[in-house]
Amino acid sequence: MNIKILSRNPNLYSTQRLVEAAKKRKHEVEIIDPLKCDIVIEKRKPNIYYKGKYLEHVDAVIPRIGASVTFYGTAVVRQFEMMNAFTTTGSEALLRSRDKLRSLQLLSKAKIGLPKTVFTNYSRDVEGVINQVGGTPLVIKLLEGTQGLGVVLAETKNAARSVIEAFNGLQARVIVQEFIKEAKGADIRAFVVDGHVVGAMKRQGKEGEFRSNLHRGGSAEIIELSDEEEVAAVRAAKAMGLGVAGVDMLQSSRGPLILEVNSSPGLEGIEKATNKDIAKSIIRFIEKNA
Ligand SMILES: Nc1ncnc2c1ncn2[C@@H]1O[C@H](COP(=O)(O)OP(=O)(O)O)[C@@H](O)[C@H]1O
Ligand SMILES: [Mg+2]
Repeated sequence: MNIKILSRNPNLYSTQRLVEAAKKRKHEVEIIDPLKCDIVIEKRKPNIYYKGKYLEHVDAVIPRIGASVTFYGTAVVRQFEMMNAFTTTGSEALLRSRDKLRSLQLLSKAKIGLPKTVFTNYSRDVEGVINQVGGTPLVIKLLEGTQGLGVVLAETKNAARSVIEAFNGLQARVIVQEFIKEAKGADIRAFVVDGHVVGAMKRQGKEGEFRSNLHRGGSAEIIELSDEEEVAAVRAAKAMGLGVAGVDMLQSSRGPLILEVNSSPGLEGIEKATNKDIAKSIIRFIEKNA
């Protein structure tokens, strides 16, 4: 098959592993920078012009679109869809996943466990917002943060009030969320491909840190999911319409609570923690569908 990987950086671990896995299974594979694709639209002949030529006969694409290039990246993925190429991540699902609030709304409708969350239009009733999530400690998150940046733990009412008012004053949109202390600074990343969990790891924040992001110095180890956790991960990916997803959840006293669903989950952390060939699962997903 003719497979294109949409990635801005050919040197990334994830990109290289996908190339390797595709070649191993005898596919033709090329890395395409989505920002260098020109989208050509005319009656019944959608096309993409890339480095001096039209891209012809593409069977499948693997979008690896970073958060900062969501708009153009999604347009390119959509164009490949118009050209009848199979995509491991649909353009609509990709877009949906980039909005934390919209994602939580969709997950809640799908009856998936979530930490109680409040979003307001810079409400002045900060006290009311704090009470809605059960008081402090609570977590405040910038709507568009990633890698743990913009996620704040407020331990007291005074702290919560000052932080929320500060963000409001800057017109920075935040969600306010109940703090799940039983998670003890850890979370679970379940990697879902084609409706199955193909690998899972537990990430633990470094000493004194409630955020378990690997980018914030957290460490990861393989974990065996409970049935309930596995079902939650698969359902969350399905609710978001994602064939490939990194589902993040907290272990709480009332079962797994989903934090977010990632549409371009990295392969390095999960492959190293689990020793599994996740890239191969993604290529197999293409073989089954393209
Ligand atoms: N409500 C919460 N209760 C306890 N810990 C949380 C909560 N929300 C986030 N965390 C911790 O902070 C980390 C980062 O939060 P997350 O919502 O995933 O933001 P980001 O998109 O920046 O990764 C999570 O992986 C988790 O360890
Ligand atoms: Mg996260």
